[in-house]
Amino acid sequence: MYYIGVDLGTSSVKLLLLGDEGICNIVSREYTVSYPKYGWSEQNPEDWWRETVEGIKLLTADIDRTLVKGISFGGQMHGLVILDSNDNVIRPAILWNDTRTQQETDYLNNSIGKKGLVDLTGNIAFAGFTAPKIIWLRNNEPDNFRKISKIMLPKDYIIYRLTGKHCTDVSDASGTLLLDVKNRCWSEKMLEITGVSKEQLPELYESYEVVGKIKNDIANILGFNEVKVIAGAGDNAAGAIGTGTINNGDCNISLGTSGTIFVASDRYAADYENAIHNFCHSTGKYHYMACMLSAASCNKWWLENIIETTDYAAEYVNYNKLGENKVFFLPYLMGERSPLNDSDIRGMFYGMSMSTTRQDMSVAILEGVAFALRQNIDIIKSMGVDINKSKICGGGTKNKLWLKIIANVLNIKLEVPENQEGASYGAALLAAKGCSEEDYSKAADKLKISYVVNPEKEIVERYNNKYAYFMKLYPSIKSALY
Ligand code: XUL
Repeated sequence: MYYIGVDLGTSSVKLLLLGDEGICNIVSREYTVSYPKYGWSEQNPEDWWRETVEGIKLLTADIDRTLVKGISFGGQMHGLVILDSNDNVIRPAILWNDTRTQQETDYLNNSIGKKGLVDLTGNIAFAGFTAPKIIWLRNNEPDNFRKISKIMLPKDYIIYRLTGKHCTDVSDASGTLLLDVKNRCWSEKMLEITGVSKEQLPELYESYEVVGKIKNDIANILGFNEVKVIAGAGDNAAGAIGTGTINNGDCNISLGTSGTIFVASDRYAADYENAIHNFCHSTGKYHYMACMLSAASCNKWWLENIIETTDYAAEYVNYNKLGENKVFFLPYLMGERSPLNDSDIRGMFYGMSMSTTRQDMSVAILEGVAFALRQNIDIIKSMGVDINKSKICGGGTKNKLWLKIIANVLNIKLEVPENQEGASYGAALLAAKGCSEEDYSKAADKLKISYVVNPEKEIVERYNNKYAYFMKLYPSIKSALY
């Protein structure tokens, strides 16, 4: 039997085939993001669909396709996908890292009030969340707003095309700011505030529940018999299954386009200080999460766009001055979500002198992301969560210097799983659980760690001093900007 896990990411869709003996195949298909205006970030749902279908065909090219039993998804979160009454996509999807909604976010946080929002949803408003996008649409594109028949999140669009079911799962729905996270249902009051009805919203499922099966015409094109479709999860909650971040206190850091810190929790606990997200986990429980909008994307931007190299490794060769760099980098290339909640802030280098080298600046990028991760980890720790080790996954983990910097800046042990396909693997495990009641925690127990990085006292101390300077920079540039 086979199960397919699909991670509908921002730069590509990654697909994974799980067989009786483990992972059999992995395929990735790219698409583009458009940035039509400053701070805007959009994608065409048709591109997701085309590349997912193509990816499924390639993924299953060498197997007996009638043995595929289930498919599930992890998806980029918060994106607003809207369909009219003929099921046509009304406008390009507005993505998680789009920052056009600062005004609507301020309205929610100030007029409805943070306390009220946390009471209703478990979270305050962030510019990337879905509810501010809906209000932006109502204010700025009223014709499009009036046409809305169905609202969905990115991965749910693929599920809709596959099954005809308008549904989502509670982990992804948590990032809409329309869900009452504690009670795992839509918040009537938030629907009223945003001006949408329950009929326009998807039906809610737990991540491991079956929502339907692939429609016959599509199953025929793909060469499948009956394939069950399992609700799936937001990419971070799916990735948590893939990295075994399941039990209370387990932590996973994802160093992808965004940088996230994900901590599983058995209980719902709202953070009234508000920097950290409180979401439903795909296990049926809860999790905390901090999300930085730019992590590995800072490195990619610097190396590829600015210094124009694709040889990442060459940039850090023989670097042995950990904690001594005089250059700082603030990684706010798309504004920042956690913990600053500031769409207007932008990135900055600080501290250059005539002796600064290109390598100092390249390393400052890695350190800046690590310091911003620490700011979030410190807040999570202040909520009484003990974090002394974490899994770490995502493209950035290929860089061993970066891992060493992060372990020392955070002063925690990092474990890099052998299988780096966090969200697509997690989605395949959700599919297996949905089809057969198999317990994915067993798969998590078998997870092999390929590389461990331990912090070193001396370097930790040096970074502690640097972190104190880093913490002064945002308040100073914020006051300079406004
Ligand atoms: C999480 C978030 C990002 C996207 C990236 O809140 O916005 O991690 O899900 O795909």
